Amino acid sequence: MDVITVIRTKRDRGRLSDEQIDWVVDAYTRGVVADEQMSALAMAILLNGMDRAEIARWTAAMIDSGERMDFSSLARPTADKHSTGGVGDKITLPLAPLVAACGAAVPQLSGRGLGHTGGTLDKLESIPGWRASLSTEEMLAVLGDTGAVICAAGDGLAPADKKLYALRDVTGTVEAIPLIASSIMSKKIAEGTGSLVLDVKVGSGAFMKSLADARELAATMVGLGTDHGVRTVALLTDMSVPLGLTAGNALEVRESVEVLAGGGPADVVELTLALAREMLAAAGLPDADPAKSLADGSAMDVWRRMIRAQGGDPDAALPTSREQHVIAAPATGVLTALDAYAVGVAAWRLGAGRARKEDSVQAGAGVEWHARPGDHVQEGTPLLTLHTDTPEKFPYAQEALEGAFSVSPEPTAFTAGPIVLDRIA
Ligand code: URA
Repeated sequence: MDVITVIRTKRDRGRLSDEQIDWVVDAYTRGVVADEQMSALAMAILLNGMDRAEIARWTAAMIDSGERMDFSSLARPTADKHSTGGVGDKITLPLAPLVAACGAAVPQLSGRGLGHTGGTLDKLESIPGWRASLSTEEMLAVLGDTGAVICAAGDGLAPADKKLYALRDVTGTVEAIPLIASSIMSKKIAEGTGSLVLDVKVGSGAFMKSLADARELAATMVGLGTDHGVRTVALLTDMSVPLGLTAGNALEVRESVEVLAGGGPADVVELTLALAREMLAAAGLPDADPAKSLADGSAMDVWRRMIRAQGGDPDAALPTSREQHVIAAPATGVLTALDAYAVGVAAWRLGAGRARKEDSVQAGAGVEWHARPGDHVQEGTPLLTLHTDTPEKFPYAQEALEGAFSVSPEPTAFTAGPIVLDRIA
């Protein structure tokens, strides 16, 4: 087998054979195929695609590159959720303890921020003392004791994806549907969850900008999960406007705790409940009532136990940024737009995300918006607050927000669309 033939096959729009796929994924993981060769192959895949059988084989090869976890010793059915990444997307934080409070076990192996999208682990690390890295034994103990665990995936899980993902991030090959689907599903299948709900984001703040692309990605992932015996459902959800009222690590933890306390922004509550119902149905618990578990405080109890079990103090004050800058509403009227991508880039530039993977993030940095599209705003009153420890970043963040919001004097200028755009099972 030689790598140049494999690259040429895909470059010339051919099909990769099972043997070629198994070999190239394994050889890349072992360092026999070089980064520049895998970059060329990833670009050929981005440009020329893969058929369903090729994607299935590629996914299987990535799963086989590492270990598989086993939750069969747990007394509860397992349910997991994966979001393809959005702005202000803190849903995992209230969702995992909520679904656990309803009777499922939620093993949530999460990631760090990527580009303009935030990462669950970065958010939780703003809680004093909280630890993302657990051994397999620690992870199973937290899951068994509290019903939910949110932690970093160990190095042994789909190592081919770890290497390939980092390469795609720096070679303009993130957006290939076969590579996104196999990347996400190889980790979820290797993790060993019994059921999985995918939150496929659509819109300016998502990797998939169009509904057609999001549908294709969702259908590909649902097919891969189902073929591997994981009950898999996807919701396509709107990411043209950021979720909730905050984007940034500690800011989003604060908002998640508000949701667990029975408050919080309506869109975050609505999406959390929609995903919880899907997870519980997929886990074989269709009669559980997540709205009740949110209202009666049982989800909050699980959250507190889960945070403590990973060294965090759920009562500690969350970090805040050293500096704030307010952007005022430019006119009186209805807010008609708030662009998710622009808000994500601004939060990232303020220090909530990384420019290089070895960078650290600022816990208090981010963007807070005081109105959502459809709300009435008054000229000169605060519309957005920017938070950072590095105030020299303010102009750079403000630049990202130019043209990102608009206000109309016409009261009927905005019609709200649904958050859940489609469901694929
Ligand atoms: N998340 C992943 O884990 N992989 C991708 O390729 C994109 C988003």
